[in-house]
Amino acid sequence: MKVLIVGSGGREHAIAASAAKSSKVEKMYCAPGNAGIEEFAECVPIGAMEFEKLVAFAKEKSIDLCIVGMDDPLVGGLVDEMEAAGIRTFGPRKNAAILEGSKAFSKDLMKKYHIPTAAYENFTDPDAAIAYLETAKFPIVLKADGLALGKGVLICQNFEEAKEGVRTIMLDKKFGTAGNEMVIEEFMTGREVSVLSFVDGKTIKTMTSAQDHKRAGDGDTGLNTGGMGTFSPSPFYTKEVEAFCNEHIYQATVDAMAAEGREFKGVIFFGLMLTEEGPKVLEYNARFGDPEAQVVLPRMKNDLIEVVEACIDGTLNQVDLQFEDNAAVCVVLASEGYPVSYEKGFPIQGLEEFNKHEGYYCFHAGTKLQDGQIVTNGGRVLGVTAKGKDLKEARANAYAATEWVQFENKYMRHDIGKAIDEA
Ligand code: AMP
Ligand code: GLY
Repeated sequence: MKVLIVGSGGREHAIAASAAKSSKVEKMYCAPGNAGIEEFAECVPIGAMEFEKLVAFAKEKSIDLCIVGMDDPLVGGLVDEMEAAGIRTFGPRKNAAILEGSKAFSKDLMKKYHIPTAAYENFTDPDAAIAYLETAKFPIVLKADGLALGKGVLICQNFEEAKEGVRTIMLDKKFGTAGNEMVIEEFMTGREVSVLSFVDGKTIKTMTSAQDHKRAGDGDTGLNTGGMGTFSPSPFYTKEVEAFCNEHIYQATVDAMAAEGREFKGVIFFGLMLTEEGPKVLEYNARFGDPEAQVVLPRMKNDLIEVVEACIDGTLNQVDLQFEDNAAVCVVLASEGYPVSYEKGFPIQGLEEFNKHEGYYCFHAGTKLQDGQIVTNGGRVLGVTAKGKDLKEARANAYAATEWVQFENKYMRHDIGKAIDEA
């Protein structure tokens, strides 16, 4: 079959690498893709939000299956547009992608269906938000309602900071229209775990767990980023935690969406916090995580295309989802200065090394082909991933592989997966 993947990051590279292993795929395209995805798919210069062009392209090439990797086009309704044109598409429709697209919606859903999450209030009026903060307990968490590249969350230590935060989100509109509405919620403490799942509208099958390192610097210091590395599985995601989430969170979310007339098909990403009172939902995403996909998909034994089709067809209950009994670590190679300011356009050496080693992957995030040479083209450049028999080995392998790649202003964290040593 002919497959079109929509997106351009390390996640889409991991999806393409996984899909390429399927005997069902005869030709793959990616819009807009990147220099690494080119290895598996023909990249076409159409942006992920150019819906009309994407649909026209899919029709022209008789695409049999479209996989939407990114959040923006999902929340914007690309799946609906593709389906209206008769293209089978993997991902939630607009009315279900709101699970990620509106934090106020997702919080109300969890409250209504008794899914454990932090206590909260929603606000559309900045004065009302400030009045609420006057009697609130600190620290407290402010969240812009809409999509904000993972940056619309402010943790405030006192009233003054929080008041400033309300201004930033709702009046200065630092996160654009995402800040028209806002959630103020209780600050929680605990370990964070990411659990991705496949959903067919009724049935949910969770994948192996993962954990992200969001801060730019070693020891979880510095600014928040899109993610500096991941590992899978998380040793903190025990059988007990999993059993609790199975009972109170996963199926409950799928059933709640169905009950609301918003049948969810695609991937639900559960951002969980393991608090003293038990696991609680920090956030939902309506897609694979980036860079979680880079450590989860390489460990999946199933044919990705078969699982994706089962989600679309509503036959996921017949799929036996299986993961390798090993571990994976992804270390992001970034441009020095990310996430604030950085130079790009530097040639990258050593990429060919990855084809010589089984169990090693170099997923491209911000690269491009320039005069026949792959050069850096973003803050996060590459996701160097390696498997190992356990997390310790996977981590040693991944860090060894980071040495294979050279480019000017290469920056990485040195402690990805280190929390595991404490487990
Ligand atoms: P979110 O985009 O909602 O996952 O928030 C981004 C990050 O902010 C999370 O990964 C947490 O580290 C932190 N965070 C979000 N909500 C809370 C909360 N209620 N309590 C503590 N930390 C939070
Ligand atoms: N790694 C977090 C995310 O994909 O949202």
